[in-house]
Amino acid sequence: MNDCVLKIENLTKTYKLGKRNVQPLTNLDLEIGKGEFTAIMGPSGSGKTTLLNIIGCIDKATSGTVLLDGVDIAKMPESKLYKIRRDKIGFVFQNFNLLPYLNARENVELAMELAGKFKGQRKQRALELLGTVGLSGREQHRPQRLSQGEQQRVAIARALANDPAIILADEPTGNLDVTNKQEIVKLLSDLNQKQGTTIIMVTHDEQVAAQTHRMLILKDGKVAEHNQAKNKLPAASKGDFE
Ligand SMILES: Nc1ncnc2c1ncn2[C@@H]1O[C@H](COP(=O)(O)OP(=O)(O)OP(=O)(O)O)[C@@H](O)[C@H]1O
Ligand SMILES: [Mg+2]
Repeated sequence: MNDCVLKIENLTKTYKLGKRNVQPLTNLDLEIGKGEFTAIMGPSGSGKTTLLNIIGCIDKATSGTVLLDGVDIAKMPESKLYKIRRDKIGFVFQNFNLLPYLNARENVELAMELAGKFKGQRKQRALELLGTVGLSGREQHRPQRLSQGEQQRVAIARALANDPAIILADEPTGNLDVTNKQEIVKLLSDLNQKQGTTIIMVTHDEQVAAQTHRMLILKDGKVAEHNQAKNKLPAASKGDFE
């Protein structure tokens, strides 16, 4: 594998619900190379969002190691995690999560403002990023005056704003119609191909997942490579495909 941007070893996440424990992730191992576009699939409740939230420093591992760009975020105190989240992670959500009272440019700029970038620099970069995602001319529009697909484009521009090590997208096409879905997957794929953006995308949609390099299935608390699981290649012939 090329340079590793994420290396997870023995990750376990347990939630306590009264006297009951829920353990969506159990001794999970995962490596993601720089520049990879990976899809994570799996049944509802299998822990996909939990996994993304731990990688994205929104939630904490119960045990195990999560090396993000060489730094173990599983052992890091909450007080330091916000900085990693701000500088290393770009999040894209199913429901876009744009601020309704800010226009497209301001939504993108806000992420940079929180990271301490200067005003002039922010504006220039926000305009560039909105151009990259195909929204030139729409910079002044508030979310309610943008289509769903356009709103997701703004969210992707925002996710890119601070040059993150990794983009985490949790069902980014889940709220979109077929046309917008295809356009957003193409945009993510182009960002990956042309700019080398590392992307982990959770999706329930096989067609969407099929457009990535690598499909993983989360099941019984662990991830498995989709193709190996499906095709069950005998060990002897595995080398032919590497
Ligand atoms: N904060 C929490 N407290 C308690 N249990 C939680 C919490 N967050 C998630 N869970 C539980 O952990 C399990 C995994 O949830 P998660 O949201 O990661 O699943 P998912 O694979 O993303 O599902 P979906 O496809 O429906 O989005 C579920 O059983 C869920 O109820
Ligand atoms: Mg989820």
